[in-house]
Amino acid sequence: MDSLFDAADGGEGREKRLEDLAAQVSVCTRCDLAMTRTNTVFASGDPYSPLMLVGEGPGENEDATGLPFVGRAGKLLDDILAAVDLTRDQVYLTNTVKCRAAVQEGGRMKNRPPRTTETRACNPYLQGQMEAVKPEIVLCLGGPAAKTLINKDFKITKDRGKWYDLDNGARAMATFHPAYVLRQRGDDLDNTKRLVWKDIQNVYAEYQKAMEERE
Ligand code: URA
Repeated sequence: MDSLFDAADGGEGREKRLEDLAAQVSVCTRCDLAMTRTNTVFASGDPYSPLMLVGEGPGENEDATGLPFVGRAGKLLDDILAAVDLTRDQVYLTNTVKCRAAVQEGGRMKNRPPRTTETRACNPYLQGQMEAVKPEIVLCLGGPAAKTLINKDFKITKDRGKWYDLDNGARAMATFHPAYVLRQRGDDLDNTKRLVWKDIQNVYAEYQKAMEERE
């Protein structure tokens, strides 16, 4: 037993810890994204799942609803998970940053990638989620999540689809972000989808092993 938190882990400890973290996030002012957000977006899914998925950050739809991956990229994420008979309720789903990063363009706000300073400011929350959920498998959706969790020099095209050991004992893989997949056309779209589908099969094999070990 590493801590009192572990002692309570089988019961309410995990949920309470995540609730507390979500409450902190909801009033967070650690970076300027706090000034333009509508809602913070903490997480969804099963905090007891062996599999955690980490995206980049909320977009317009997520900012409006407070839920991760509810737009077009989220629909594709559901399809990717369905390819291995998983639903988003069976995984723990979160992002590297909990507030929408946006820039004013032509009179409206457009999503932009979070800055390093913003990702860094938000990282204690992601680390807190990792500590609470203790995922055995982490799937990074896109380069920013992989740079945050696996290696700051991660190159998504070259380094995706491989397993990496994280300091907390979890095994991590990265695949292309669903929004990136949606931007591809023609052969690029087919190839990107094929790679993502291959990655999710590998992740699912590990998920199944983890579930079997729990039985
Ligand atoms: N893209 C992300 O990375 N996360 C979301 O929650 C939605 C879109």
